[in-house]
Amino acid sequence: MQIKAQLNQLIHDACAKAEIPVETVQVNEAGKPEFGDYQFNGAMPLAKKLGKNPRQIAQEIVEALPENPILSKAEIAGPGFINLTLSPKWLAARLEEAARDERLGVGRQSEPKRVVVDYSSPNMAKQMHVGHLRSTIIGDSLANLFAFLGDEVIRQNHIGDWGTQFGMLIAYLEELGEGAEGSLHDLEEFYKAAKKRFDEDAAFADKSREYVVKLQGGDVKCLHLWENFIDKSLGHCEEVYSKLHVRLTREDVKAESSYNDDLQKIVEDLQAKGLLKESRGAKVVFTDDEENPLIIQKSDGGFLYATTDLAAIRFRVKELGAKRISYVVDARQAGHFKQVFAVARMAGYAPEDVRLEHVSFGMMLDKSGRPFKTRDGGTVKLIDLLDEAVERAKGAITQREAYDEEELEKIAEIVGIGAVKYSDLSINRESNYIFDWDRMLSLEGNTSLYQQYAYARIRSIFRKYDGTIEGKVQLGDELERRLALKLLQLEDVLRAAAREAMPHYITGYLYDLATLFMKFYENNPILRSDVPEELRQSRLQLAKSTADTLKLALEILGIKVLERL
Ligand code: ARG
Repeated sequence: MQIKAQLNQLIHDACAKAEIPVETVQVNEAGKPEFGDYQFNGAMPLAKKLGKNPRQIAQEIVEALPENPILSKAEIAGPGFINLTLSPKWLAARLEEAARDERLGVGRQSEPKRVVVDYSSPNMAKQMHVGHLRSTIIGDSLANLFAFLGDEVIRQNHIGDWGTQFGMLIAYLEELGEGAEGSLHDLEEFYKAAKKRFDEDAAFADKSREYVVKLQGGDVKCLHLWENFIDKSLGHCEEVYSKLHVRLTREDVKAESSYNDDLQKIVEDLQAKGLLKESRGAKVVFTDDEENPLIIQKSDGGFLYATTDLAAIRFRVKELGAKRISYVVDARQAGHFKQVFAVARMAGYAPEDVRLEHVSFGMMLDKSGRPFKTRDGGTVKLIDLLDEAVERAKGAITQREAYDEEELEKIAEIVGIGAVKYSDLSINRESNYIFDWDRMLSLEGNTSLYQQYAYARIRSIFRKYDGTIEGKVQLGDELERRLALKLLQLEDVLRAAAREAMPHYITGYLYDLATLFMKFYENNPILRSDVPEELRQSRLQLAKSTADTLKLALEILGIKVLERL
């Protein structure tokens, strides 16, 4: 259920009745409980436009509000704010409806569209790094979210599997022969060793260059070596995906190399459309930045990262039918995407009705604010990082309770991975992200463990209660009313998060919800024998709806919950 849209409509109707000209009405959630549940701040700008007193305008709007079951109060405050409070009766009835629905009352997009989410997209020559971790976590949660809201999601893992460095890597792979299996275990080391050979041995360097040419020419032996290398490298990534419970599979891989045959055609097409210019021997397209045109083909005939991205956009729009393409890539590539999108528009690869967005994210930093590295300055292996998360989770949860070995493994895995994901998703993705074990595994604050405890606590109520839940709600006090309202805000939150590609709206919501529930639970006993049956039923339903909501939203974010913790 979308609450804001209904309130906007009410205000809109009131304005029409009061003959106040208004285009769009946008109510906001109130900042403080004293200001009601929602606030309409539009009277002030309207008054300015009409040359009238804002309180007067607010008064006219409130008086013209149509008869409705939603609002229990509409008050004017300050210079002309309209504070809206929702009726407990109406909320109770809506909550009963939502509770009967497996989607908890969240509707599906009335016009589903194809959405491509380009995420993870690591480079095959090296180990996946923390930037790819962020892309994988954020991208997967967005793909889940879009799909839940009813869009047709196509996940694209645009892996970097092409380029001159592969000549060197396959030459080295061949040289190692049988011994290669073990060396491929650590791609970082493998790359370094190959590079060392390349720098030290001229014959090896020549061979590497020869292999690049052969590879590009489709030489069977070189292709075979290359495929073997990519397969191993992708295998490393899949280990990470599986540990993260991320749904990327080989089916979702659409590698850079798959666009190779399109690159020359892109050049010809841009040429035919009169967009291609010569600049210092290279073929370029000028966008609004006169100094930095987008290079399409280098003077030696080589293509670039951008050329492949143009081919990919064309493919995604024409072949996949995408209406929205979300690139979950770190902020440093902002300039690249700005130019690629501009050229894609100029060339007609992405018409105006296709939304192209760079879902950018900041760097992952350590606690002292430096780029996240190993102690000796190397790349942190993601597998090790995730294993450490699970180990540390054991420490965090055994502070509260003792578990037997097997149970501990299972729980720690869910808690540890959940913590890594949640902490990444809980901040505005555009800021840099400080990776802090203690904070992410804390039981207090906006953490996954806090939500998982809230969930498990509710489940334990239901283990103790052996009666039925009738699903009837009557909202007794203000805490209950606010909890019900929070529960019913789920759809508004999910939609806003999807619209702006901001998963932290959801984590913020979950934190508010869990906190509100804890307060409710401390003050409003459920199973105690002196609680009247009708009230108990209602409180049981509030608890159940809270658990269902926590579970659903966490699952959208890719985080599991536990029945017991
Ligand atoms: N492989 C690139 C990197 O690791 C990210 C690719 C992002 N997707 C894209 N279509 N350019 O930096």
